Amino acid sequence: YGLMSYDPAFTNTASTKSAITYLDGDEGILRYRGYPIEQLAEKSTHLETAYLILNGELPTASQLSNWETEIKKHWFIHENIKHLIDAFRHDAHPMGMFISAVGASSSFHPESAQIFDPAIRNEQIVRLISEVPTIAAFSYRHIRGLPVVYPDDELSYAGNFLSMMFRRSELRYKPNPVLERALDVLFILHADHEQNCSTNTMRAIGSAHADPYVALAGAAAALYGPLHGGANEAVVRMLTKIGSTKNIPAFIESVKKGEGKLMGFGHRVYKNFDPRGKIVKQLAYEVFEVTGRNPLLDVALELERIALEDEYFISRKLYPNVDFYSGLIYQAMGLPTPFFPVLFAIPRTVGWLAQWVELLNDPEQKIARPRQLYVGEPERDYAPISER
Ligand code: CMC
Repeated sequence: YGLMSYDPAFTNTASTKSAITYLDGDEGILRYRGYPIEQLAEKSTHLETAYLILNGELPTASQLSNWETEIKKHWFIHENIKHLIDAFRHDAHPMGMFISAVGASSSFHPESAQIFDPAIRNEQIVRLISEVPTIAAFSYRHIRGLPVVYPDDELSYAGNFLSMMFRRSELRYKPNPVLERALDVLFILHADHEQNCSTNTMRAIGSAHADPYVALAGAAAALYGPLHGGANEAVVRMLTKIGSTKNIPAFIESVKKGEGKLMGFGHRVYKNFDPRGKIVKQLAYEVFEVTGRNPLLDVALELERIALEDEYFISRKLYPNVDFYSGLIYQAMGLPTPFFPVLFAIPRTVGWLAQWVELLNDPEQKIARPRQLYVGEPERDYAPISER
């Protein structure tokens, strides 16, 4: 195999250069375009952060206002995409609906195949960021058997999403400002995370010069997995199954025996606290002030305390990640558990698109095509079926 190196799951191989997100796993540092995640979570909005991630600089007041107007222009989706969503069973997983609707959008915008035309490319970027909350909310209303609520131009990105999800009457929905802000902060925290599994998928599909809709559908499919964006859903299922703090020691023992994982713990890169996890935990307390305390919080807090003192988790450097507390917030807001990965996909759309643009503009990038070490049979002769 000559000089070929063997690196399963690319744990030690940089597949690209990138100027978008900086992550130091040992120190627990995360920055978008140089700005610490803590500052963005405190001071920015998701749309401002999206502009930053996509363009490299924070917008001026007029740039931000134009950007917000552009987003609002596109947040109605084609009625036939709504019909597509309506065709799903009432118990369909919303991630399946999300992936299908985003992929199907490719055929509604055939010009999107012209990925090297900057104007066409930018239009798809705006369209995707605008449309994903609408697709998500329409899926939720379909599952609940409720009529859809169309976007409300008077509301913010997060506020409009809450309106499309929860509005019950003809009256304008007034989002609770604490919940609206909490959702926006969660969106900021999830907007990008360098070369994670789904972003790597976006880049792999993008490297074949596929259009952004199908590439993004593929990225969302990777995100769906319980080891990635499906972890927030898995955490709540796990906490519900544990049920009470008295069952935690037995659960921890089962994890240590390899019978299952402590979901929401561990990370490929963070070998220290996930900085997003710290912010989410704080946010959970603010949300519970409004919604009432999620009873699973006590199970989560005790589980975290015991795990952080246990040699198994200490020696493997396993700490809570962003998903450990985010599901508790979503649940307190009244969102059904299968919906949680979609709430990850909405903001990550920004990161996927920024990384896709970076890939297309990078003259060093080629079609993603890793090599392998062949360990199968040597050459042998075909035997007729009667002789096998
Ligand atoms: N619970 C119990 N043991 C674990 C866990 C866990 N959550 N995570 C890792 N380990 C153990 C693993 O079994 C291995 O032990 P040993 O050395 O004895 O074989 C050791 O820790 C190293 O783990 P690894 O599997 O080599 O780590 P990885 O980098 O391949 O996997 C991970 C990273 C996130 C997939 C993994 O930690 C995991 O499955 N965590 C639970 C799922 C989860 O919370 N995912 C969300 C990640 S953050 C949001 C996102 O980016 O999507």
